[in-house]
Formats: sequence, C-alpha cells, structure tokens
Amino acid sequence: ISLKPFNTFGIDVRADHFVSVNSVEELKSVLSLQNYTNKLILGGGSNMLLTKDVNALVIHVNLKGIEVFNENEHEVYVKANAGENWHEFVLWCINNNYGGVENLSLIPGNVGTAPIQNIGAYGVELKDVFHSCEAITVENSSIVNFTNDDCNFGYRNSIFKQQAKGKYIITSVTFKLRKTNHQLNINYGTIASQLKAMQIGSPTIQDISKAVIAIRESKLPNPKEIGNSGSFFKNPVISKTAFNKLLANFEDIPSYPVSDTEVKIPAGWLIEKAGFKGKRFGDFGVHKNQALVLVNYGNAKGEDILKLSKLIQNTVNRLFNINIEAEVNII
Ligand code: EPU
Repeated sequence: ISLKPFNTFGIDVRADHFVSVNSVEELKSVLSLQNYTNKLILGGGSNMLLTKDVNALVIHVNLKGIEVFNENEHEVYVKANAGENWHEFVLWCINNNYGGVENLSLIPGNVGTAPIQNIGAYGVELKDVFHSCEAITVENSSIVNFTNDDCNFGYRNSIFKQQAKGKYIITSVTFKLRKTNHQLNINYGTIASQLKAMQIGSPTIQDISKAVIAIRESKLPNPKEIGNSGSFFKNPVISKTAFNKLLANFEDIPSYPVSDTEVKIPAGWLIEKAGFKGKRFGDFGVHKNQALVLVNYGNAKGEDILKLSKLIQNTVNRLFNINIEAEVNII
C-alpha cells in the first residue's frame, strides 16, 4: 500500500506489508509473527522523511482511549493511549480545564510518539507534564513502565532516540495535569504579544491555546495543505566563545541562553541568512514564513528533500561553521 496518507510530509512510497493495530493484544500477536524480520512502527507519521519504499512490516499503532485516575481537588492523572491524536488530546484537556499542555496546541502527531522527541513549543516541553509511559518490548512483548527520570528527556531528545531506539513501542502515556492554580507559561515573546493583540489581560488555558494556534497558523504550513514535518532541523547549541566570534561578523544573530558557557541559535535564522527561506525547487522547498520547515508541494520525492537538507547543512556550515542536525527521522 502507499504510505502517503500516513506521513505528514505526504511522501508517496510503498510498504510491502501494513497492519493497523487497535489493542495491546493485537499488537502482541503482530509482534509474534516470525516471518517479518524488519518492522517499522508508525504513529502519526509527523516526524519522519520516507526516502524509499519500505521493505518491512509497517505497524500502525492505532490504540485509542483516554482515562482519568487519582483525581483530587487540584491535580489529575490522565492516561491516553498512543494512537490518540495529540492536538485532539490537548483540546480534550482544555475542555476539562486540565492545565499543562495548552502551549503544545496544534502540534501534529500522536500521543504515543510525543515522548520520543520530547515535543516542545512556546516555553513548554512534554517532560513538564509527563508522569510515565507504558511500552511493549519489540523482542519479547513484555510490558515495561518508564518514569519521567527513566526517559532521560532533553531538548528534542529522550532514551527512545538513544539507547532504547527501536526496542519499544509506547502504548500509552500518563500525564500529571492541574485542575486549579494553572501554571501559565506566557513568557515566550510571541505569546505575550499575541495575547495583547487578542486584548486578553488575564488569560485562561483556553486563551493560551488560542494564542498558540494563531501563532502556529501564521507561521507554520498546515500539513493537510502542504506536506511537512515541522522543524526539519534542531536549533544548534554552540559555545559562547564561538558565538562571540560570530557576533563580530553578524551583529544581529539571535541567541537564547542554555548554560554559563553555551547558547542556542535559531536554525531558522541561519537558514534564512544562507538565502534559502521561501526557495522553491519544483515540488519541494523551504517554507516562506519559517525557514526551519522543509515542504512538499505535491509529489516531491523523499530523496529530493533529503538532498536539499544536506545542501542547507553544508551551506550553513560553510557560512557559520555550525552543524545543524536533522530533527526528523530519515527512513
Ligand atoms: N527565525 C528567523 N527566520 C526564520 C525562522 C526563525 O530569523 O525563518 C528566527 C527569528 O529570530 C525568530 C527565532 O528564529 O525570533 C525563533 O523562531 P520561532 O519562534 O519560530 O522558533 P524556532 O526556534 O524557529 C522552535 C521549535 C518549534 C516551536 C517554536 C516555538 C525547534 C527545532 N523548533 O522553533 O518546534 O514551535 O520553537 O516554541 O526547536 C517543531 O519541532 O516541529 C517545531 C515547529
């Protein structure tokens, strides 16, 4: 079958074998099939670039359901199954007045893949609300529980991209959310100005969600209209010494503090400075409003987008002596 409807980049590659699983039991029985040595786990397909036909059994994790437990006056634990759409889950939380995920509104993908890259936006990361997750071991189908500490979360990183890569399939995620005294994160510059533009003085979690949605819609292409995987690259972290050298040549280079000795540079700025913003090469290119996002205008090949990403990496390296690393998984 074609995987085009199953990846937000909209890349048309074929998979030899495909199965969608709706329960942990089904998942276990699929994992026990001995005739498929290669397996590709597919969630929302929002963080991958498919560059060739997939010679494997594709397992589409479609586990649905949300459950609330250990509720008290102030807090609630919510367990969501891996196949729940992330943004629908966020809206469900907001409708119930459960605070914590509102800044993560409109991020494409599913609940079960959110921990892998520790999704983050507008001053909040998944790790801030993540309590634990349940996963099934690919090798022997045993069930494992990961606490927040176990996951080793970092910037767009976790154990599931490192030592545990490919070894587990996350089946559910449990979040710890607030019912009262919502801890609002409005410090991220664009949120504060968006709320002001919306004439909101004392925002609720719903207002913050609306502000985030408005910002994202103004900058980021909707994958339903233009294929993309969000930020294609991570924002690089460089030493302050290297940064000071760059400042001599590029006095307007933006940066965010990371530690006493390091800063983070928006890769979007580097790519824009390198002249790629809005550049279109036939059916693929660099988005016009956010240079960090590579796009498929219709029938682009994954290989073409991969080549463009390498050209961008090489150019940025030549101009700034900075390596920018891909954030999406290249398959
Ligand atoms: N910038 C440019 N040109 C561009 C894009 C950005 O100069 O084309 C500079 C500007 O200085 C701007 C700054 O970069 O002020 C920051 O831009 P933005 O707020 O859009 O954030 P970002 O650092 O480019 C990161 C995440 C996004 C997330 C936003 C908001 C990464 C790799 N990306 O982007 O995440 O939505 O912050 O928190 O960290 C994603 O991961 O798919 C994603 C969209």
